Amino acid sequence: MISFDYSQSLSFVPKGALEDIRPRARAAHASLVEGTGRGAEFLGWRELLLEPDDALIGDIESVASRIREEADVFLSIGIGGSYLGARAVIDALSPYFPAGEAGPEIIFAGTDMSGAYLAQLLRHLEGKSVFVNVISKSGTTLEPAIAFRLVREWMERTFDDADDRIIVTTDPDAGALNALLKTHSYRKYVIPPNVGGRFSVMTPVGLLPIAVAGIDIRSLFYGAVDACRQLSTSEDNPAIAYGALRGLFLEQGYSTEVLATFEPALDGIGAWWQQLYGESEGKSHNGLFPVSLRYSTDLHSLGQYVQDGKRNIIETFLLVSDDGGDISVDHDQSNLDGLNYLVGKPLTEINRKAYEGTARAHVQGGVPVMTLEIPDMSADSLGRLLYFFQHGVAVSGYLLRINPFDQPGVEAYKREMFRLLGKPGAGN
Ligand code: PA5
Repeated sequence: MISFDYSQSLSFVPKGALEDIRPRARAAHASLVEGTGRGAEFLGWRELLLEPDDALIGDIESVASRIREEADVFLSIGIGGSYLGARAVIDALSPYFPAGEAGPEIIFAGTDMSGAYLAQLLRHLEGKSVFVNVISKSGTTLEPAIAFRLVREWMERTFDDADDRIIVTTDPDAGALNALLKTHSYRKYVIPPNVGGRFSVMTPVGLLPIAVAGIDIRSLFYGAVDACRQLSTSEDNPAIAYGALRGLFLEQGYSTEVLATFEPALDGIGAWWQQLYGESEGKSHNGLFPVSLRYSTDLHSLGQYVQDGKRNIIETFLLVSDDGGDISVDHDQSNLDGLNYLVGKPLTEINRKAYEGTARAHVQGGVPVMTLEIPDMSADSLGRLLYFFQHGVAVSGYLLRINPFDQPGVEAYKREMFRLLGKPGAGN
């Protein structure tokens, strides 16, 4: 299970503040599990874990296994919640340097409107066996829609069986992808209407690309199921404590939360977490601004700011107890690099000391520090972690008295962009 240690933040907590926020955090948690809070019509991400659909998981596994056999490239087209969860898990659980039977190359598109990226992508696809999964709940988001139009035309020119190679993941009825299904025989997976994009990693949105990457989606899913059951039945759990501490520091005037990892494979989890927390909480001119950093590299850039800049930062470390690395520093007779004091020490231990030293320095510099730790980089542990963060953001959102499940702010840029592009009905 996930451990949560906030002892290094306590010296920043004013007397009585924890006692004040604890009952409010418990009430926020109760609103979530009882489905009585704001946006409760979007709690499908919990329902699908409380009533697992094994037939759906089995179907996704068999489609993924066919794709793994036949594809050189699996192209996932989607943006925001329609891709970040899959990317997070795939990045975390894939080897850094794949070799041998690695399965298809997984490529993401539709995340921006770079013409250079799409032009080079189409060239890269030439001569390869390509399968495409276009993922859009609304079916109207411009970035994936443009990418899919270009890729679809290329697929139709290139493959006689293009329709068999395209999978659509979308709303049961609404949107342009359903309109396309009237004239195409694409396989379709449904995003349940009561699951928002950033909470959809355990639906086909995340599960299909993750399964195509060769990852055990059953372990991932059932890790999340187990975490959901455990965190839902206990009034004293780490997700409530994490939500409470975040709320408390926000009330004290802190405005930024850094999520810091010491493992490159967790970059995608950081990006997914940023979206989950930023889009859920950043409303009504409130909320902590979430920033994901990867140490050690970012200790040599933004680390300066974290240590010494404006004192409005809290920091949450995300650690992995066993990173699977099995390598130590060797003895060197000449010791010209002066590293013999580290001889025999596993890199895992050295990395751990880097965390301990960084946490200590940041606390001394005025940053409240909290630490989350998962036992290993397994599908089961990641499933638990993803659910933990989802539960935690709901608690945080309810503490802020906002609806954590909508994203009205995302519409503003679309409105202005559509006006400038002359979209019919967008005004001028
Ligand atoms: O979390 C969300 O709801 C958003 O990030 C969406 O996932 C994102 O805007 C993509 O939307 P859609 O799947 O409708 O294309």
